[in-house]
Amino acid sequence: MAEQTIRPLEADDLERVCTIEQTVYEVPWSDQVHQDCLERHYPSLILEIDEVLAGYAVFQYFVDESHLLNLAVDPCFQGQGLGRDLLRSVERVSLEDGMRSLFLEVRFSNPVARNLYLSEGFAEIGIRRNYYPTRRGREHAYVLSKRLD
Ligand SMILES: CC(C)(COP(=O)(O)OP(=O)(O)OC[C@H]1O[C@@H](n2cnc3c(N)ncnc32)[C@H](O)[C@@H]1OP(=O)(O)O)[C@@H](O)C(=O)NCCC(=O)NCCS
Repeated sequence: MAEQTIRPLEADDLERVCTIEQTVYEVPWSDQVHQDCLERHYPSLILEIDEVLAGYAVFQYFVDESHLLNLAVDPCFQGQGLGRDLLRSVERVSLEDGMRSLFLEVRFSNPVARNLYLSEGFAEIGIRRNYYPTRRGREHAYVLSKRLD
């Protein structure tokens, strides 16, 4: 059976994380943004299957709120429950670090991620208009949140 590990992201993981980033997003973060998040010690997790980096999450704390900035699973590993495992780990780590709620944005055009968040008990609390860049312009985002305690 495949061995799953979830651990904090380290510098050596960045190359693979950036490769996945370019694969999964139409408008990906630059490598520099990932580098900056690491250098600024944003909390972040990676998920490995048999020591292959299959997904990652980057988040940020404001007082007692955790904000999920990025969650992605390599397409080769999608649809196997790993995104859900990573999300639950983000919730667990955030709670252990004293956060009381988790916030995130999701694009209108991303029903897969939206389904995941709604099925994990997140509630839609608003809309940010023209929040995300697209190749052709801008796109609205749903704002979702969940209490952790
Ligand atoms: C969103 C993402 C992280 C989900 O990861 P994943 O490992 O594929 O998801 P899981 O296998 O854990 O599935 C969790 C839930 O997501 C939803 N989901 C997954 N694949 C789906 C699909 N093809 N169609 C619709 N919903 C889907 C379902 O609700 C699923 O739960 P279920 O299996 O009980 O039906 C992954 O698709 C991804 O990396 N997408 C590109 C990056 C991205 O959009 N990130 C989110 C930014 S907000």
